[in-house]
Amino acid sequence: MTLKPPVRIAVTGAAGQIAYATLFRIAGGIMLGRDQPVILQLLDLPHAQKALQGVIMEMHDCAFPLLEDIFATDDPETAFKDADIAILIGARPRTQGMERSDLLQANAAIFKTQGEALNKVAKRDVKVLVAGNPANTNAYIAMKSAPDLPSENFSALMRLDHHRAVSQIAEKIGRPVTSIEKMCVWGNHSPTMYADFRYATSNGESVAEMITEPDWHSEVYMPKIAQRGAAIIEARGASSAASAANAIIYHLRDWILGTSGKWVTMAVPSDGSYGIPEGIVFGFPVICENGNVEIVQGLDLSDDFSKAHIELTLNELLEEREAVKHLL
Ligand code: NAD
Ligand code: LMR
Repeated sequence: MTLKPPVRIAVTGAAGQIAYATLFRIAGGIMLGRDQPVILQLLDLPHAQKALQGVIMEMHDCAFPLLEDIFATDDPETAFKDADIAILIGARPRTQGMERSDLLQANAAIFKTQGEALNKVAKRDVKVLVAGNPANTNAYIAMKSAPDLPSENFSALMRLDHHRAVSQIAEKIGRPVTSIEKMCVWGNHSPTMYADFRYATSNGESVAEMITEPDWHSEVYMPKIAQRGAAIIEARGASSAASAANAIIYHLRDWILGTSGKWVTMAVPSDGSYGIPEGIVFGFPVICENGNVEIVQGLDLSDDFSKAHIELTLNELLEEREAVKHLL
């Protein structure tokens, strides 16, 4: 097999639990393919450097054929230098009883500093994925702090919500997850998200027509997806890690290698589609091709239920934007 030239992947929060479940899969070729060597540029805080050296020792012990180089640093500009991809995980996770928005003041400054560093030293076509919560607004902060980079380089992680939405539908209708297409989760990665299966199909048949209980969508399904992160914190005593890592891998794989016409959910800066103000980082159904993201157009959001939920989640994002205005 002919190998491609290596790509530089910066990962922040690299000593944390999500990164621990992500790095080994990236170096194993699961994200970008078995012909894609990688250079991993790992960022974490000074006090986490010793643990990070332990992670690097384990990475070496895997003797990954695709791992061309790996290093650790506590300096964002060193981590992001010439990065083709930047995975921004480093941030405080919430604990029981908190909402993700409670993390805004604790984490927002991180994304300003890192946006500025990306602006200075990353490749001009760097693809940035923000997972640290509140992910949509943190991505917005990073994007606004990097005025020399195109806004379409920035995205936030809502693939975990998408996978949760697909998995719960598959269980409900008793069909495999692979049969489900055209699912989407609109809006903010928060309890206001709008998990929408109105367009979803299973082997080409309408999912909505298979679900006969009138209130199941609003009373059972949506709360379950929206509260899944909290349910995991309650059960595990720590926020989701392996499933978040899995979502990171698929988000980036699809962005870079394409979705072959299939819909996935990504939070991306709005281009004004569906009346969402330009620049707000909003979960949309998208199709990826040749490294570009296209928001699926022409879906009907005019019914009262959709209108109310889009408004709710958008208003929350507008409030979060207002709360970080002083930083930008
Ligand atoms: P963790 O506490 O295990 O790891 C976070 C790491 O980030 C730590 O090693 C910490 O030292 C590091 N860090 C903190 N500030 C940093 C900075 N300024 N620069 C570099 N590194 C920094 O947490 P985790 O479980 O890995 O979660 C990380 C974040 O991801 C949290 O905010 C969590 O809420 C979020 N998350 C998002 C999703 C999603 O779907 N968007 C899913 C799960 C978790
Ligand atoms: C999740 O959805 O699992 C993460 O965002 C973690 C959290 O705080 O819910």
